[in-house]
Amino acid sequence: MVLEVRDLAKSYPVRQGVVLKRTTGHVQAVDGVSLALRRGRTLGLVGESGSGKSTLARVLVGIEKPTRGQVLVDGEDVSTMSRGARRELRRNVQMVFQDPYTSLNPRMSVGDIVAEPFRIHRDAVPRGGRRRAVAELLELVGLDPDHVHRYPHQFSGGQRQRIGIARALAVKPRVLVCDEPVSALDVSVQGQVINLLEDLQDELGLSYLFIAHDLAVVQHIADEVAVMYLGRVVEEGDGPAVYGDAHHPYTRALLSAVPVPDPTARPAEGELLLEGDPPSPADPPSGCRFHTRCWLARRLAEEHGVAGDGPEAVPERCRTEDPVLVPLGRRGDGRDGGGDDEGAHVAACHFAREAATLGAHPGPTAQASPGPGTPPGPDPDPDADPDPDADPDPDADPDPDLEPVPDRPVLESRER
Ligand SMILES: Nc1ncnc2c1ncn2[C@@H]1O[C@H](COP(=O)(O)OP(=O)(O)OP(=O)(O)O)[C@@H](O)[C@H]1O
Ligand code: SF4
Ligand SMILES: [Mg+2]
Repeated sequence: MVLEVRDLAKSYPVRQGVVLKRTTGHVQAVDGVSLALRRGRTLGLVGESGSGKSTLARVLVGIEKPTRGQVLVDGEDVSTMSRGARRELRRNVQMVFQDPYTSLNPRMSVGDIVAEPFRIHRDAVPRGGRRRAVAELLELVGLDPDHVHRYPHQFSGGQRQRIGIARALAVKPRVLVCDEPVSALDVSVQGQVINLLEDLQDELGLSYLFIAHDLAVVQHIADEVAVMYLGRVVEEGDGPAVYGDAHHPYTRALLSAVPVPDPTARPAEGELLLEGDPPSPADPPSGCRFHTRCWLARRLAEEHGVAGDGPEAVPERCRTEDPVLVPLGRRGDGRDGGGDDEGAHVAACHFAREAATLGAHPGPTAQASPGPGTPPGPDPDPDADPDPDADPDPDADPDPDLEPVPDRPVLESRER
Protein backbone atom coordinates (compact mmCIF):
# COMPACT_ATOMS: atom_id res chain seq x y z
CA MET A 1 0.00 0.00 0.00
CA VAL A 2 1.42 3.35 -0.91
CA LEU A 3 -1.00 5.27 1.30
CA GLU A 4 -3.23 4.03 4.06
CA VAL A 5 -5.41 5.46 6.79
CA ARG A 6 -6.57 3.49 9.79
CA ASP A 7 -9.52 4.48 11.93
CA LEU A 8 -8.93 8.10 11.01
CA ALA A 9 -11.00 10.77 12.72
CA LYS A 10 -10.98 14.54 12.51
CA SER A 11 -13.28 16.74 14.53
CA TYR A 12 -13.59 20.49 14.86
CA PRO A 13 -14.84 22.32 17.94
CA VAL A 14 -18.13 24.18 17.61
CA ARG A 15 -17.80 27.50 19.44
CA GLN A 16 -20.59 29.79 20.52
CA GLY A 17 -20.74 33.17 22.18
CA VAL A 18 -19.65 36.58 20.99
CA VAL A 19 -17.07 37.61 23.55
CA LEU A 20 -16.33 34.47 25.50
CA LYS A 21 -16.39 31.74 22.94
CA ARG A 22 -17.30 28.45 24.55
CA THR A 23 -16.93 25.04 22.94
CA THR A 24 -20.44 23.63 22.80
CA GLY A 25 -19.77 20.51 20.75
CA HIS A 26 -17.73 18.98 17.99
CA VAL A 27 -18.25 18.49 14.28
CA GLN A 28 -17.19 14.94 13.48
CA ALA A 29 -16.06 15.70 9.94
CA VAL A 30 -14.32 12.33 9.57
CA ASP A 31 -15.18 9.61 12.03
CA GLY A 32 -13.29 6.33 11.87
CA VAL A 33 -12.29 5.95 8.23
CA SER A 34 -9.93 3.20 7.08
CA LEU A 35 -8.81 3.21 3.46
CA ALA A 36 -5.88 1.90 1.45
CA LEU A 37 -4.50 3.11 -1.85
CA ARG A 38 -2.48 0.68 -3.89
CA ARG A 39 0.49 1.58 -6.01
CA GLY A 40 -0.38 2.79 -9.49
CA ARG A 41 -4.11 2.60 -8.78
CA THR A 42 -6.92 5.10 -8.37
CA LEU A 43 -9.25 5.12 -5.41
CA GLY A 44 -12.39 7.16 -6.02
CA LEU A 45 -13.91 8.80 -2.95
CA VAL A 46 -17.51 9.87 -3.40
CA GLY A 47 -20.10 11.49 -1.17
CA GLU A 48 -22.43 14.45 -0.81
CA SER A 49 -21.29 17.86 0.22
CA GLY A 50 -20.23 17.84 3.86
CA SER A 51 -19.51 14.11 4.04
CA GLY A 52 -15.89 14.79 5.04
CA LYS A 53 -14.02 14.18 1.78
CA SER A 54 -11.93 17.36 1.80
CA THR A 55 -11.21 17.00 5.50
CA LEU A 56 -9.86 13.52 4.85
CA ALA A 57 -7.80 14.88 1.94
CA ARG A 58 -6.29 17.64 4.08
CA VAL A 59 -5.29 15.15 6.76
CA LEU A 60 -3.79 12.83 4.15
CA VAL A 61 -1.50 15.48 2.71
CA GLY A 62 -0.54 16.75 6.16
CA ILE A 63 -2.30 20.13 6.03
CA GLU A 64 -4.22 19.09 9.16
CA LYS A 65 -3.53 16.65 11.95
CA PRO A 66 -5.97 13.85 12.68
CA THR A 67 -7.86 13.80 15.97
CA ARG A 68 -7.46 10.04 16.04
CA GLY A 69 -6.04 7.28 13.90
CA GLN A 70 -3.04 6.78 11.67
CA VAL A 71 -1.80 7.87 8.26
CA LEU A 72 0.74 5.49 6.76
CA VAL A 73 2.90 6.20 3.73
CA ASP A 74 4.61 3.10 2.37
CA GLY A 75 3.54 1.31 5.54
CA GLU A 76 5.20 3.81 7.87
CA ASP A 77 3.16 5.74 10.41
CA VAL A 78 3.70 9.42 9.64
CA SER A 79 3.11 10.54 13.24
CA THR A 80 6.02 8.55 14.68
CA MET A 81 8.66 9.90 12.29
CA SER A 82 11.25 12.59 12.72
CA ARG A 83 10.36 15.94 11.15
CA GLY A 84 12.81 15.46 8.29
CA ALA A 85 11.53 11.99 7.46
CA ARG A 86 7.97 13.23 7.65
CA ARG A 87 8.70 16.07 5.26
CA GLU A 88 10.30 13.64 2.81
CA LEU A 89 7.30 11.36 3.00
CA ARG A 90 4.94 14.28 2.63
CA ARG A 91 6.73 15.21 -0.56
CA ASN A 92 5.41 11.97 -1.95
CA VAL A 93 1.79 12.95 -1.34
CA GLN A 94 0.68 16.11 -3.11
CA MET A 95 -2.72 17.68 -3.61
CA VAL A 96 -4.65 18.96 -6.62
CA PHE A 97 -7.37 21.35 -5.51
CA GLN A 98 -10.95 21.68 -6.65
CA ASP A 99 -11.11 25.17 -7.94
CA PRO A 100 -8.34 26.25 -10.30
CA TYR A 101 -9.77 29.79 -10.16
CA THR A 102 -9.06 30.26 -6.47
CA SER A 103 -6.22 27.82 -5.77
CA LEU A 104 -3.68 29.67 -7.93
CA ASN A 105 -2.31 32.96 -6.63
CA PRO A 106 -3.41 35.56 -9.22
CA ARG A 107 -0.35 37.70 -8.53
CA MET A 108 2.16 34.96 -9.26
CA SER A 109 3.34 33.99 -12.71
CA VAL A 110 2.78 30.43 -13.85
CA GLY A 111 6.49 29.74 -13.56
CA ASP A 112 6.54 30.89 -9.94
CA ILE A 113 3.40 28.92 -9.12
CA VAL A 114 4.79 25.68 -10.51
CA ALA A 115 8.17 26.29 -8.83
CA GLU A 116 6.58 27.11 -5.45
CA PRO A 117 6.96 23.58 -3.99
CA PHE A 118 10.74 23.83 -4.52
CA ARG A 119 10.84 26.38 -1.72
CA ILE A 120 9.61 23.77 0.75
CA HIS A 121 11.35 20.75 -0.75
CA ARG A 122 14.65 22.40 -1.66
CA ASP A 123 16.46 19.25 -2.65
CA ALA A 124 13.74 17.99 -5.01
CA VAL A 125 15.44 19.74 -7.93
CA PRO A 126 18.87 21.44 -7.79
CA ARG A 127 18.59 25.23 -7.86
CA GLY A 128 20.22 25.55 -11.28
CA GLY A 129 17.80 23.10 -12.84
CA ARG A 130 14.54 24.62 -11.68
CA ARG A 131 13.80 26.72 -14.72
CA ARG A 132 14.19 23.70 -16.95
CA ALA A 133 12.14 21.59 -14.57
CA VAL A 134 9.27 24.08 -14.75
CA ALA A 135 9.37 24.09 -18.55
CA GLU A 136 9.32 20.29 -18.58
CA LEU A 137 6.41 20.22 -16.16
CA LEU A 138 4.38 22.63 -18.29
CA GLU A 139 5.07 20.50 -21.31
CA LEU A 140 4.16 17.37 -19.41
CA VAL A 141 0.67 18.73 -18.65
CA GLY A 142 0.12 19.96 -22.21
CA LEU A 143 0.91 23.66 -21.76
CA ASP A 144 3.29 25.79 -23.75
CA PRO A 145 6.52 26.27 -21.78
CA ASP A 146 6.85 29.71 -23.40
CA HIS A 147 3.85 30.84 -21.33
CA VAL A 148 5.81 30.56 -18.12
CA HIS A 149 5.62 34.34 -17.50
CA ARG A 150 1.87 34.59 -17.90
CA TYR A 151 -0.60 34.90 -15.04
CA PRO A 152 -3.46 32.59 -14.10
CA HIS A 153 -6.18 34.88 -15.45
CA GLN A 154 -4.67 34.51 -18.90
CA PHE A 155 -5.64 30.82 -18.99
CA SER A 156 -8.91 28.94 -19.29
CA GLY A 157 -10.27 26.81 -16.46
CA GLY A 158 -8.92 23.58 -17.94
CA GLN A 159 -5.51 25.14 -18.47
CA ARG A 160 -5.46 26.46 -14.92
CA GLN A 161 -6.15 22.99 -13.61
CA ARG A 162 -3.23 21.78 -15.73
CA ILE A 163 -1.09 24.40 -13.95
CA GLY A 164 -2.35 23.05 -10.60
CA ILE A 165 -1.41 19.53 -11.67
CA ALA A 166 2.05 20.69 -12.81
CA ARG A 167 2.56 22.34 -9.41
CA ALA A 168 1.51 19.14 -7.62
CA LEU A 169 3.95 17.11 -9.75
CA ALA A 170 6.89 19.49 -9.27
CA VAL A 171 8.45 17.60 -6.37
CA LYS A 172 7.97 14.21 -8.03
CA PRO A 173 5.33 12.77 -5.71
CA ARG A 174 4.09 9.23 -5.97
CA VAL A 175 0.56 10.00 -4.81
CA LEU A 176 -1.82 12.74 -5.88
CA VAL A 177 -4.82 13.53 -3.72
CA CYS A 178 -7.18 15.16 -6.21
CA ASP A 179 -9.99 16.96 -4.38
CA GLU A 180 -12.78 17.33 -6.94
CA PRO A 181 -10.25 18.34 -9.62
CA VAL A 182 -12.84 18.65 -12.38
CA SER A 183 -15.97 19.84 -10.54
CA ALA A 184 -15.39 23.49 -11.43
CA LEU A 185 -14.71 22.74 -15.09
CA ASP A 186 -16.81 22.65 -18.20
CA VAL A 187 -18.04 19.13 -19.00
CA SER A 188 -15.91 18.73 -22.10
CA VAL A 189 -12.80 20.02 -20.37
CA GLN A 190 -13.48 17.63 -17.47
CA GLY A 191 -12.81 14.72 -19.80
CA GLN A 192 -9.54 16.23 -20.98
CA VAL A 193 -8.26 16.76 -17.46
CA ILE A 194 -9.26 13.22 -16.50
CA ASN A 195 -7.45 11.92 -19.59
CA LEU A 196 -4.38 13.93 -18.66
CA LEU A 197 -4.42 12.44 -15.16
CA GLU A 198 -4.75 8.95 -16.62
CA ASP A 199 -1.85 9.53 -19.02
CA LEU A 200 0.31 10.90 -16.22
CA GLN A 201 -0.55 7.90 -14.09
CA ASP A 202 0.64 5.53 -16.82
CA GLU A 203 3.75 7.57 -17.54
CA LEU A 204 4.83 8.27 -13.98
CA GLY A 205 3.33 5.32 -12.10
CA LEU A 206 1.28 7.61 -9.87
CA SER A 207 -1.42 6.58 -7.42
CA TYR A 208 -4.51 8.75 -7.06
CA LEU A 209 -7.10 9.42 -4.45
CA PHE A 210 -9.73 11.00 -6.66
CA ILE A 211 -12.53 12.82 -4.85
CA ALA A 212 -15.89 13.63 -6.43
CA HIS A 213 -19.44 14.13 -5.26
CA ASP A 214 -20.79 12.30 -8.28
CA LEU A 215 -20.31 8.60 -8.96
CA ALA A 216 -20.44 9.27 -12.70
CA VAL A 217 -17.26 11.34 -12.56
CA VAL A 218 -15.08 8.66 -10.97
CA GLN A 219 -16.49 5.80 -13.02
CA HIS A 220 -13.94 6.34 -15.81
CA ILE A 221 -10.90 6.69 -13.65
CA ALA A 222 -11.32 4.75 -10.40
CA ASP A 223 -10.15 1.18 -9.88
CA GLU A 224 -11.70 1.13 -6.43
CA VAL A 225 -14.50 3.28 -5.04
CA ALA A 226 -15.31 4.29 -1.46
CA VAL A 227 -18.60 6.00 -0.68
CA MET A 228 -18.73 8.38 2.30
CA TYR A 229 -21.72 9.53 4.31
CA LEU A 230 -21.49 11.86 7.31
CA GLY A 231 -17.81 11.21 8.01
CA ARG A 232 -17.91 7.45 7.49
CA VAL A 233 -17.22 5.07 4.62
CA VAL A 234 -20.49 3.20 4.04
CA GLU A 235 -19.44 1.08 1.06
CA GLU A 236 -16.20 0.21 -0.64
CA GLY A 237 -15.13 -2.13 -3.38
CA ASP A 238 -13.68 -2.22 -6.84
CA GLY A 239 -15.42 -0.38 -9.65
CA PRO A 240 -17.46 -3.27 -11.06
CA ALA A 241 -18.59 -4.30 -7.57
CA VAL A 242 -19.76 -0.84 -6.55
CA TYR A 243 -21.26 0.19 -9.90
CA GLY A 244 -22.76 -3.17 -10.73
CA ASP A 245 -23.59 -4.67 -7.37
CA ALA A 246 -23.95 -1.87 -4.83
CA HIS A 247 -25.36 -3.03 -1.51
CA HIS A 248 -25.69 0.14 0.57
CA PRO A 249 -28.98 2.04 0.10
CA TYR A 250 -27.04 5.32 -0.06
CA THR A 251 -24.78 4.05 -2.85
CA ARG A 252 -27.80 2.70 -4.66
CA ALA A 253 -29.50 6.07 -4.44
CA LEU A 254 -26.39 7.85 -5.77
CA LEU A 255 -26.19 5.33 -8.60
CA SER A 256 -29.84 5.73 -9.33
CA ALA A 257 -29.18 9.40 -10.11
CA VAL A 258 -26.40 8.56 -12.58
CA PRO A 259 -27.73 9.02 -16.10
CA VAL A 260 -28.31 5.82 -18.05
CA PRO A 261 -28.83 5.63 -21.82
CA ASP A 262 -32.31 4.21 -21.57
CA PRO A 263 -34.26 5.49 -18.57
CA THR A 264 -37.00 2.95 -19.26
CA ALA A 265 -34.44 0.29 -18.38
CA ARG A 266 -34.75 1.43 -14.80
CA PRO A 267 -36.77 -0.89 -12.62
CA ALA A 268 -40.36 -0.09 -11.76
CA GLU A 269 -39.21 1.67 -8.60
CA GLY A 270 -37.57 4.29 -10.79
CA GLU A 271 -35.10 6.59 -9.19
CA LEU A 272 -34.34 6.10 -5.53
CA LEU A 273 -34.72 9.51 -4.03
CA LEU A 274 -32.80 10.87 -1.13
CA GLU A 275 -34.93 13.38 0.67
CA GLY A 276 -33.63 16.52 2.28
CA ASP A 277 -30.12 17.48 3.19
CA PRO A 278 -27.70 15.37 5.19
CA PRO A 279 -27.98 15.91 8.96
CA SER A 280 -25.32 17.94 10.74
CA PRO A 281 -22.13 16.03 11.54
CA ALA A 282 -22.16 17.94 14.85
CA ASP A 283 -25.20 15.91 15.86
CA PRO A 284 -25.36 12.75 13.76
CA PRO A 285 -28.44 10.51 13.98
CA SER A 286 -28.43 7.59 16.42
CA GLY A 287 -27.89 4.04 15.19
CA CYS A 288 -27.27 4.08 11.47
CA ARG A 289 -26.40 7.65 10.50
CA PHE A 290 -28.30 7.23 7.26
CA HIS A 291 -31.58 6.15 8.84
CA THR A 292 -33.23 9.59 8.62
CA ARG A 293 -33.01 9.48 4.81
CA CYS A 294 -32.95 5.79 4.04
CA TRP A 295 -35.45 4.61 1.45
CA LEU A 296 -34.80 0.99 2.36
CA ALA A 297 -35.48 1.48 6.05
CA ARG A 298 -38.81 3.11 5.20
CA ARG A 299 -39.68 0.37 2.79
CA LEU A 300 -38.86 -2.34 5.32
CA ALA A 301 -40.95 -0.58 7.97
CA GLU A 302 -43.84 -0.29 5.51
CA GLU A 303 -43.67 -4.02 4.91
CA HIS A 304 -44.27 -4.40 8.62
CA GLY A 305 -47.21 -2.04 8.53
CA VAL A 306 -45.41 1.04 9.85
CA ALA A 307 -45.58 3.98 7.50
CA GLY A 308 -45.15 7.74 7.69
CA ASP A 309 -42.38 10.25 8.16
CA GLY A 310 -41.82 9.83 11.88
CA PRO A 311 -38.76 8.28 13.47
CA GLU A 312 -40.71 5.09 14.17
CA ALA A 313 -41.12 4.46 10.44
CA VAL A 314 -37.75 2.71 10.18
CA PRO A 315 -36.74 -0.64 11.73
CA GLU A 316 -35.68 -0.26 15.35
CA ARG A 317 -32.29 -1.76 14.57
CA CYS A 318 -31.58 1.09 12.15
CA ARG A 319 -32.36 3.66 14.85
CA THR A 320 -30.38 2.02 17.62
CA GLU A 321 -27.52 -0.04 16.22
CA ASP A 322 -24.60 1.48 14.34
CA PRO A 323 -23.83 -0.84 11.40
CA VAL A 324 -20.20 -1.75 10.74
CA LEU A 325 -18.62 -2.48 7.37
CA VAL A 326 -19.07 -6.16 6.58
CA PRO A 327 -17.62 -8.07 3.62
CA LEU A 328 -20.05 -8.95 0.84
CA GLY A 329 -17.79 -10.67 -1.67
CA ARG A 330 -14.34 -10.70 -3.18
CA ARG A 331 -12.85 -8.92 -6.12
CA GLY A 332 -12.80 -11.11 -9.15
CA ASP A 333 -10.30 -9.33 -11.34
CA GLY A 334 -7.33 -11.48 -10.41
CA ARG A 335 -5.28 -8.40 -9.49
CA ASP A 336 -5.51 -8.79 -5.75
CA GLY A 337 -2.36 -8.99 -3.77
CA GLY A 338 -3.89 -11.65 -1.56
CA GLY A 339 -3.86 -9.78 1.77
CA ASP A 340 -6.48 -10.82 4.26
CA ASP A 341 -8.91 -7.97 3.84
CA GLU A 342 -7.61 -6.81 0.51
CA GLY A 343 -10.17 -7.11 -2.21
CA ALA A 344 -13.22 -7.09 0.00
CA HIS A 345 -16.41 -5.44 -1.18
CA VAL A 346 -17.83 -4.07 2.06
CA ALA A 347 -20.94 -2.17 3.11
CA ALA A 348 -22.27 -0.86 6.42
CA CYS A 349 -25.98 -1.67 6.46
CA HIS A 350 -27.94 -4.14 8.58
CA PHE A 351 -30.04 -4.95 5.53
CA ALA A 352 -27.43 -4.73 2.78
CA ARG A 353 -28.68 -7.80 0.98
CA GLU A 354 -32.20 -6.43 0.77
CA ALA A 355 -30.81 -3.16 -0.60
CA ALA A 356 -28.95 -5.05 -3.32
CA THR A 357 -32.10 -6.69 -4.62
CA LEU A 358 -34.65 -3.91 -4.12
CA GLY A 359 -34.50 -0.98 -6.50
CA ALA A 360 -31.86 -2.63 -8.63
CA HIS A 361 -29.87 -0.39 -10.95
CA PRO A 362 -28.84 -1.53 -14.44
CA GLY A 363 -25.19 -1.07 -13.46
CA PRO A 364 -22.16 -0.56 -15.71
CA THR A 365 -23.05 -3.38 -18.09
CA ALA A 366 -25.60 -0.97 -19.53
CA GLN A 367 -23.04 1.33 -21.14
CA ALA A 368 -23.34 4.63 -19.35
CA SER A 369 -23.99 7.36 -21.85
CA PRO A 370 -22.26 10.68 -21.64
CA GLY A 371 -25.45 12.14 -20.28
CA PRO A 372 -25.72 15.55 -18.74
CA GLY A 373 -23.02 16.03 -16.19
CA THR A 374 -21.13 12.92 -17.22
CA PRO A 375 -17.61 13.58 -18.42
CA PRO A 376 -16.94 12.31 -21.90
CA GLY A 377 -15.15 9.04 -22.43
CA PRO A 378 -11.49 8.53 -23.02
CA ASP A 379 -11.21 10.38 -26.30
CA PRO A 380 -12.74 13.81 -26.12
CA ASP A 381 -12.06 16.30 -28.84
CA PRO A 382 -8.55 17.55 -28.14
CA ASP A 383 -9.38 20.84 -29.80
CA ALA A 384 -12.06 21.67 -27.32
CA ASP A 385 -9.58 23.22 -24.90
CA PRO A 386 -8.61 26.69 -25.99
CA ASP A 387 -5.43 26.85 -27.95
CA PRO A 388 -2.68 27.66 -25.46
CA ASP A 389 -0.92 29.60 -28.20
CA ALA A 390 -3.84 31.86 -28.86
CA ASP A 391 -3.72 35.28 -27.33
CA PRO A 392 -5.47 34.90 -24.03
CA ASP A 393 -8.44 37.05 -23.26
CA PRO A 394 -9.19 37.03 -19.57
CA ASP A 395 -12.85 37.80 -20.10
CA ALA A 396 -13.45 35.36 -22.88
CA ASP A 397 -15.26 32.14 -22.21
CA PRO A 398 -12.73 29.39 -22.95
CA ASP A 399 -15.03 27.98 -25.61
CA PRO A 400 -18.44 29.50 -26.13
CA ASP A 401 -19.63 26.47 -28.09
CA LEU A 402 -19.23 24.16 -25.18
CA GLU A 403 -22.21 23.44 -23.02
CA PRO A 404 -21.82 24.84 -19.51
CA VAL A 405 -21.67 22.31 -16.71
CA PRO A 406 -25.31 21.51 -16.07
CA ASP A 407 -26.45 22.22 -12.58
CA ARG A 408 -27.32 18.65 -11.83
CA PRO A 409 -27.16 17.92 -8.15
CA VAL A 410 -26.83 14.18 -7.76
CA LEU A 411 -29.66 14.08 -5.31
CA GLU A 412 -32.21 16.15 -7.12
CA SER A 413 -35.77 14.86 -7.46
CA ARG A 414 -36.79 13.68 -10.86
CA GLU A 415 -39.99 12.73 -12.57
CA ARG A 416 -40.25 9.02 -13.09
N1 LIG B 1 -12.21 24.01 9.66
C1 LIG B 1 -13.42 23.57 9.95
N2 LIG B 1 -14.07 23.99 11.08
C2 LIG B 1 -15.30 23.53 11.39
N3 LIG B 1 -15.99 22.65 10.64
C3 LIG B 1 -15.42 22.20 9.50
C4 LIG B 1 -14.12 22.65 9.10
N4 LIG B 1 -13.81 22.04 7.93
C5 LIG B 1 -14.86 21.25 7.61
N5 LIG B 1 -15.83 21.36 8.57
C6 LIG B 1 -17.11 20.65 8.58
O1 LIG B 1 -16.83 19.28 8.42
C7 LIG B 1 -17.81 18.67 7.59
C8 LIG B 1 -17.12 18.02 6.42
O2 LIG B 1 -16.62 19.04 5.57
P1 LIG B 1 -15.76 18.72 4.26
O3 LIG B 1 -15.40 20.00 3.65
O4 LIG B 1 -14.67 17.78 4.60
O5 LIG B 1 -16.85 17.95 3.36
P2 LIG B 1 -16.78 17.61 1.81
O6 LIG B 1 -17.26 16.19 1.71
O7 LIG B 1 -15.45 17.91 1.25
O8 LIG B 1 -17.88 18.56 1.19
P3 LIG B 1 -17.90 19.29 -0.25
O9 LIG B 1 -18.41 18.26 -1.22
O10 LIG B 1 -18.88 20.40 -0.04
O11 LIG B 1 -16.53 19.77 -0.57
C9 LIG B 1 -18.78 19.77 7.19
O12 LIG B 1 -19.88 19.72 8.07
C10 LIG B 1 -17.99 21.03 7.41
O13 LIG B 1 -18.84 22.10 7.75
S1 SF4 C 1 -28.90 0.07 8.47
FE1 SF4 C 1 -31.03 0.63 8.11
S2 SF4 C 1 -31.01 2.87 7.92
FE2 SF4 C 1 -28.92 2.15 7.68
S3 SF4 C 1 -28.61 1.97 5.52
FE3 SF4 C 1 -29.27 -0.05 6.26
S4 SF4 C 1 -31.49 -0.09 6.07
FE4 SF4 C 1 -30.83 2.03 5.86
MG1 LIG D 1 -14.80 19.14 -0.32
